[in-house]
Formats: sequence, C-alpha cells, structure tokens
Amino acid sequence: IKLLSVASEIYPLVKTGGLADVVGALPGALAPHGVETRTLVPGYPAVLARLGKGRRLARYTDLFGESASVLAGEVEGLSLLVLDAPAFFQRDGGLYGDASGQDWSDNWRRFAALSRVGADIAAGTLKDWRPDIVHVHDWQAAMTPAYMRYGAAAGVPRLVTIHNLAFQGRFGAEIFPALDLPPEAWGMDGVEYYGGIGFLKAGLVSADAITTVSPTYAQEIRSPMNGMGLDGLINGRVDRLHGILNGIDTQVWNPATDPLLPKSYQARSLAARSANRRALERRFGLDADAGPIFVIISRLTWQKGLDLMVDTIDHLVGLGGKLVVLGSGDAPLEGAFLSAAERHRGRVGVQIGYDEPLSHLMQAGGDAILIPSRFEPCGLTQLYALRYGCVPVVARVGGLADTVIDANEAAIAAGAATGIVFAPADPLALHGAINRVVQLHGDAPVWLAMQRAGMRADFSWGNSAARYAALYARLIAEAV
Ligand code: ADP
Ligand code: GLC
Repeated sequence: IKLLSVASEIYPLVKTGGLADVVGALPGALAPHGVETRTLVPGYPAVLARLGKGRRLARYTDLFGESASVLAGEVEGLSLLVLDAPAFFQRDGGLYGDASGQDWSDNWRRFAALSRVGADIAAGTLKDWRPDIVHVHDWQAAMTPAYMRYGAAAGVPRLVTIHNLAFQGRFGAEIFPALDLPPEAWGMDGVEYYGGIGFLKAGLVSADAITTVSPTYAQEIRSPMNGMGLDGLINGRVDRLHGILNGIDTQVWNPATDPLLPKSYQARSLAARSANRRALERRFGLDADAGPIFVIISRLTWQKGLDLMVDTIDHLVGLGGKLVVLGSGDAPLEGAFLSAAERHRGRVGVQIGYDEPLSHLMQAGGDAILIPSRFEPCGLTQLYALRYGCVPVVARVGGLADTVIDANEAAIAAGAATGIVFAPADPLALHGAINRVVQLHGDAPVWLAMQRAGMRADFSWGNSAARYAALYARLIAEAV
C-alpha cells in the first residue's frame, strides 16, 4: 500500500506536541505491514535545513498567490515530501504563530496550501508516485480530503485522524472565494461551519473514515461536553469512527539504551535508576532525601489541568514531596510555577521552555509524573513514564483512562496496578491522588511492583499499526 500522510509537524524535525511524535513514528511502524509511507510536511526552516537540496518533483507559480515547489528526500529514515513555499513557511517564530505566541494571520492560506498540494499529489501530479490512500492529521491538513473530494482525486480513499478536537482551524466566511473550491462546497455538507469555515469540520465530512487516538476519546467526543461543537457531526458518522490508541517509539524511549541518561537501567535493575534521580536533584538543587519526586512535562494550558496543581504545591511539599516542572505555555501558569520554586527552594524546581533531553532525564529520575488533564485525546507522557518506571498519576479521561491501571486494592493484590487514576479533574481529587502517591511510595515492595508492571506493559506501535494497516486495506477495497 502506498500511503500519503499529511501533517504540520514531524519528529525529530519539528514538534510542538504529541502529534509530531505520532507522525514521525507511524511510517516505521507501518512498514512491516506492507505500507510504504511518504509524509508531506511544510518547508519550515528546520525541515529545509535537514533536507538539504532535495529532489524537486513539482513546481507551482501561483499557489494561493505564491510560488512553491514540492521537494523529496530522506531524513532520519523518513521519506519526506516537503512543500517549499518560502512566503508561507520560512519565518522566524513558531510553527503557527510569531515569537510572542500570536497566531499568524494567514494560517488559513498556509494550511490550505499544504492541503491543496496533498490533494494534487493524490491526483497524480508527481507522475512517478501516486498514493493508494491519503491519511491526514489534525486541522492543518484536514482540507486535503475536501480538495480531493471536489477535485481530480475523488476516487482515492481518505482518512482523517483527530489528535485534538480543541484545535479546529476556524476562519471567517470571507475566505471562501480564495479557497478555490466549487460553490457547492459552501454548505453544511462542505466547509461551512456555523456561518464561517471550519478546516477540521471540512475534513470530517469529506473523509471516508475518521480515527482518533484512543478508544475512550472516541466515545467522549460524541457528547456535547467534549465534542466542542462537532459532536452532532461525529455522531452522524459514528459508523465511520474508530479509536486507535497511539503507540510510542520504543527506540527513542528505551531506558536500557537511552543515550540521554546518566545511567541506563531496566525492570530488573531498577536500583540503578537512583543515579538518574540524583542527577535530577542536583540539576534543580533539590534536597537529597527520600521524599518522592513528582515531575510535570507538559504544555501549560487549560487542557492539561495544571492550574489545579498550583494550589496543591504547598500540600505536596508539606507531605515531604518534591516537584520538578518542565513546560511552557500560559504566562500566568508559568509565573505561578516560578514563584512556587522561589517559595520552596530545595523542594520545587522549574524550567520554563522546551527541552527534549531534560524530558528524558525527568522520566528516568522522577518517581511519579502528574497529568491532571481536563481532557486528553491520548497522551504520550504517561506512556513514556510507564516504560521508564516513573509512576503516572492521571485524571480518568481519554487515553489516560485507557492506559493506566489504578492502584486500588484489587489491582495491587493482582500485581496489575501501574499508576494512580483519579476523577474528577479537580483540586480535591488531585489532593487525594497526591496523598495516595506519598503513601504508596512509602511502601517499597508495592511501589517496586507498580514500576515493574508499568515497564512490562506494551505500548509499542505493533497493535495499533496493524489496525491502521487493516483500515487502509478496507478503505482501498471499498473504493474500487
Ligand atoms: P500534547 O500533544 O497534547 O502536548 P502528548 O502527551 O501527546 O500531549 O505529547 C506531548 C509531547 O511533547 C511528549 O513527547 C512530551 O514529552 C513532549 N513535551 C511536552 N512539553 C515538553 C517540554 N517542555 N519539553 C520537552 N518535551 C515536552
Ligand atoms: C494531541 C493530544 C494528545 C495526543 C497527541 C498525539 O496533541 O492533545 O493527547 O497524545 O495529540 O496524538
């Protein structure tokens, strides 16, 4: 099967979150199932730098008013198609906005262009390579199915994956003429969404199948509370909706071989883990006592529920715990964590920013990772934590609920517990969860059994890649 994947991020080249990890890992995971993937990504500076010259496969003189090319090349084992459109993608700042965090005002044009080119490739513009199926990720790529459906690639099956329903790519109706779609695309069954344009919405109505990144999130988005305005549409297409859990890249995330760790270890040599714990303490000037080290590695946003943490820090420290925070996002949250670090020197360490190597050290040196998300389509940090013997403490939502087994009496007795699961995501329940961590951490044999059970759990791509491959095969069979 020849697969065109379209996405706005790909690890290890450009990443703001889990989307990049998934898009970067899927091609390798699909290959053993006979799927040959090429991934179309924007030509951001970081991508072009790694690509080098590339091979030019197509050229545009007027792609939404700008000139552009499609370049092909191999980077880190990934077969890339890069949309080199300097006017759209060669900018300083972030992938979606300027350095101050303000969204680029022409994001609709940038990602309509990406999607347009995806649809053109599906229609056969590259001559020597034409995909059997197109799989697009999130709103930035979600216009691809719409362009395919109204254009020359109508017969090629198309799949949309929702990584996060909170990001929908909504714009004003005035952009419709510039999108270069036929008039019939304006409407409930097309790109129109509450009087404006919805890129993700357009993808969801135009796709042959929809997946999201965990079975529980696939259920949750059918309710008004979590459907973010799209629950009606999603319920109407529920026969086409699948929840397929994300896997993790077990080579990048392997405590036995991780070059970013002071000391490697495995389930049977967990004592060696303490060297990483000490390194983490030293790095943040934390007291070297036995109190559990909690870690947070996250975007600092409402979704992640970390505002709930702010009022809980004094409690956590009062119980003898320590806390290390790595993240960036909402300025008030960043400020609140920084001031907690001031207040609790030796107990709380905070680094604002993005730091991949530090995230590995925290997973390998922390005792427990806190993830009090209000919603979580899948979540990857709890999966990395499980593999690293860092016990996840999670809200019972989305993929968190699907991947962590709560340490209740029965699960402990059965040796099945892998973490602490609490509900609802509110300060009271979070308090209770932290109390339980401190208590369980004091019971060495139980704690060790939890770490080992987590490390034994298999969240590699195996199963999920097989499910994607089967879905591709089915959609291709349906299309002929
Ligand atoms: P989301 O995609 O919603 O942010 P996920 O848990 O799926 O959540 O993925 C987050 C990814 O980003 C993980 O790979 C995590 O390790 C990484 N990450 C998040 N914040 C940081 C940070 N400040 N520094 C390094 N890595 C981070
Ligand atoms: C989104 C979600 C996260 C998920 C990731 C990868 O960013 O917020 O839960 O793990 O996509 O699918």
